[in-house]
Amino acid sequence: MVISALTPFYPWIKAFHVISVIAWMSGMFYLPRLYVYHCEVRPGSAESERFKVMERRLLRAIINPAMISTWTFGILLVLTPGVIDWSAGWWHVKLAAVILMSVLHGEFSRWRRDFLNDRNRRSARFYRIANEIPTVLMIVIVIMVIVRP
Ligand code: HEM
Repeated sequence: MVISALTPFYPWIKAFHVISVIAWMSGMFYLPRLYVYHCEVRPGSAESERFKVMERRLLRAIINPAMISTWTFGILLVLTPGVIDWSAGWWHVKLAAVILMSVLHGEFSRWRRDFLNDRNRRSARFYRIANEIPTVLMIVIVIMVIVRP
């Protein structure tokens, strides 16, 4: 299904897609870093309570809205005539990596709730490794959509 009325807005839709992507990725790179530092303070302490505020604001005010607008403008691009060839391998790899990024977003949100309830049992090392995953996915996605190998 395509919507021909979208064609004249294609450059604007793509610009807002990339703007949303930058906001989403900035939060996905920063939130697990906060979890690394949060692991190093005592539950119930003033520092821990401050990390809870920072994590809630980052997730609610930046990461969640940016993910929704990345998907919204991404789907509008898919619905724009002539933009996507569904037989193209690069598009399937991009879509798989984007779905993994969204699942990871959900995990970050679940981990925030564990910190919020002083229930976190994962180590700072766990979050350092988790911090690398959005970077690797982002590199795969950008190479797929621009180089189209
Ligand atoms: C969330 C779901 C997403 C959907 C449905 C989606 C879909 C699309 C589509 C259809 C295009 C247009 C391609 C064209 O103009 O030929 C596009 C462009 C682009 N997407 Fe996404 N995308 C999504 C997420 C992402 C993410 C997470 C990133 C980066 C981490 C990303 C990076 C880009 C870039 C850089 C472009 C511009 C490519 C160019 O100008 O050639 N997208 N996207």
